[in-house]
Amino acid sequence: MFSHKIFETNTLALIVGIVVSVAIGGLVEIIPLFTIENTIEKVEGMRPYSPLELAGRGIYVREGCYNCHSQMIRPFRDEVERYGHYSLAAESQYDHPFQWASKRTGPDLARVGGKYSNDWHVKHMINPRNVVSKSIMPTYAHMTRPLAVASTIVGELKTLRMVGVPYTDEQIANAVADLEAQAKGGDAAKAVEARYPKAKIGDFDGKPDEITEMDAMVAYLQMLGTLVDIKSVKPELVNR
Ligand code: HEC
Repeated sequence: MFSHKIFETNTLALIVGIVVSVAIGGLVEIIPLFTIENTIEKVEGMRPYSPLELAGRGIYVREGCYNCHSQMIRPFRDEVERYGHYSLAAESQYDHPFQWASKRTGPDLARVGGKYSNDWHVKHMINPRNVVSKSIMPTYAHMTRPLAVASTIVGELKTLRMVGVPYTDEQIANAVADLEAQAKGGDAAKAVEARYPKAKIGDFDGKPDEITEMDAMVAYLQMLGTLVDIKSVKPELVNR
């Protein structure tokens, strides 16, 4: 009969025994991963952020919105009923860094796009108590200042391309023009819609002659969670 005594009296045997059992545990976890082709579902509609959305996202990161807001709806009934369809891996594939976050002092924002009007967002950012009387969210009235990012946006797109975001040469060449056109509307905005389908166009903050941080922030918030047509996602991906 196999005796436990061997391991209790011989250090080398004990070490070998530990290595063997940890290796078995590791292989059981790791081997199945090699049979998975892709951990990101193939979905319709996901695209890189437009320059204006990207600028808004930069402000979101700068202001630390992720300290209070998650962007990751988990596949639990309570979350799905409150926030909408749970988040898909594909939806944060172009996020560097991702904004899943881990704390919800405020609600999840993964599908906040289209939930409120632009005007609501502007009032809320300037002072959340304007629209939600007992809100504890800080004020972000300084976002009414002009957006300073236009000069760096081309570099940002290029940098993201280096880490795998599929920006085309055309998108990079037109980044500054697209940023302005998305915030101002008009004929030039048609090109933005062609390059970035479903981009929300228009003067977001009610100041047509100026592109402000608020324009970028609201363009970003209004797009969140709206790109993927959830109905087009294959049921086998959704019901897993
Ligand atoms: C100190 C925590 C805190 C920070 C930081 C914070 N928020 Fe909030 N946020 C909240 C709370 C609490 C609410 C819910 C009450 C309300 O609507 O104001 C909220 C609500 C919201 C909503 C409405 C969500 C919904 O579905 O009703 C949006 C949009 C939002 N925040 C955006 C932002 C953005 C953008 C930033 C960064 C510029 C930010 N928040 C920073 C706490 C925070």
